[in-house]
Amino acid sequence: MAEKSFKYVIIGGGVAAGYAAREFAKQGVKPGELAIISKEAVAPYERPALSKAYLFPESPARLPGFHVCVGSGGERLLPEWYTEKGIELILSTEIVKADLSSKTLTSAAGANYKYNVLIIATGSTVIRLSDFGVQGADSKNIFYLREIEDADKLIEAIKAKKNGKAVIVGGGYIGLELAAVMQINNYDVTMVFPEPWCMPRLFTPEIAAFYEGYYAKKGIKIIKGTVAVGFDSNSNGEVTAVKLKDGRSLDADIVVVGVGARPLTTLFKGQVEEGKGGIKTDAFFKTSIPSVYAVGDVVTFPMKMYNDVRRVEHVDHARKSAEHAVKAIFASGEGKTIDEYDYLPYFYSRSFDLSWQFYGDNVGDAVLFGDSDPASAKPKFGSYWVKDGKVVGTFLEGGTPDENKAIAKVAKLQPAASSVDELTKEGIGFACKI
Ligand code: FDA
Ligand code: NAD
Repeated sequence: MAEKSFKYVIIGGGVAAGYAAREFAKQGVKPGELAIISKEAVAPYERPALSKAYLFPESPARLPGFHVCVGSGGERLLPEWYTEKGIELILSTEIVKADLSSKTLTSAAGANYKYNVLIIATGSTVIRLSDFGVQGADSKNIFYLREIEDADKLIEAIKAKKNGKAVIVGGGYIGLELAAVMQINNYDVTMVFPEPWCMPRLFTPEIAAFYEGYYAKKGIKIIKGTVAVGFDSNSNGEVTAVKLKDGRSLDADIVVVGVGARPLTTLFKGQVEEGKGGIKTDAFFKTSIPSVYAVGDVVTFPMKMYNDVRRVEHVDHARKSAEHAVKAIFASGEGKTIDEYDYLPYFYSRSFDLSWQFYGDNVGDAVLFGDSDPASAKPKFGSYWVKDGKVVGTFLEGGTPDENKAIAKVAKLQPAASSVDELTKEGIGFACKI
């Protein structure tokens, strides 16, 4: 079987791989030195588009429009870009074995790839309802969303079941973004999730109340405090109803499930140190094996600001960790060092004409400010999280670019908080004067 050798190999061809490739080029990687091996059939792209503009009925986003690095305002890395730089894109190739002691990766087709330095960028995979043995969870027209192929299948079903009923299982990122996009596609949408409010890992009940109210205004029904325990299907095997634990049954032509993600670390089990579900690294993304780095969703890294180790499943960190790792690799090749990764958590989402940003840590007491009435013509509100007298986290819906910069600065600098009353009264003004 074929064997190829590279100085550097990136396993995974997602967001982190694309941003790593750009940094490799900046650092002067030579033709033939770098390969990206990806299970997907296309060059790295901005994955967030898949749950947003990719699913729009009018003028949807399509490749090559959203290849990396457009998401950060950078140059678009078309497949030709990789050819020009002499970076080998090995697509539609799943690695099924990674032997870190012999520095060899083996593909499903049996090809071997050798490397001197490996960057693990395998990202996450979806958690499936069939993982919990939910009855009927393999019925047709039950969708998960991770890769472009998943989105293409969903689009086919949206067209086939035109103006039908959609049930969204899960009240996190995928749940909220997909409920909106299915409504935009003229589907009758119901969301189901077990918690008392949506996006509980970030939202306070007050923040959630705004989005739930806004979605209700759009005609989206929300069922909380219960889960899907089974699915009915027709003689074609297509889903027809979602059975809930509380005994209710919801008619459905399409079901989209977003019940969380799991980092793809299986290939490396027992070979590298792990922590908090991810592959553990130092502040330069080097794993317990010196020639192996890990970036993006899979990595558990030192979060310097909070003197903690964490894993982050968001695009901003995927981009920045990849760039940092490549800088560190080149610096160490020259016997130099670079600064430790010092990450300020940044999460965002967009749906309908809404857009929020969050920076920092959502710990301590949350203080709501602004107009969070979903019935308002132009709602604009936010929240500060105050811990030990300091503002450590900031959230803003509908902010201007300058206001978003201001809330990022607050989360980074952690200024002393005035009283809760003052913060509520000052609102975004507090951030803008820091
Ligand atoms: P990513 O998942 O991007 O890439 C991993 C790659 O590795 C894939 O190409 C995969 O096929 C490949 N791979 C895995 N195992 C392999 C193997 N054994 N062999 C070969 N290839 C293999 N975040 C955010 O901040 N804002 C947002 O709006 C969104 N929106 C969003 C929408 C949707 C639909 C998803 C699924 C996710 C988001 N995210 C997001 C999260 C964000 O996209 C995510 O954090 C990054 O894509 C992570 O980048 P990685 O490169 O680590 O993994
Ligand atoms: P999530 O963790 O954001 O949310 C999962 C939700 O499903 C939670 O509300 C959870 O309690 C609920 N849930 C769990 N079990 C359930 C069950 N049996 N029935 C119904 N609900 C259940 O995960 P996600 O929304 O699936 O997102 C997957 C990945 O994609 C994450 O890594 C996420 O960060 C990423 N993503 C991010 C964005 C963004 O940052 N804007 C957008 C889309 C996806």
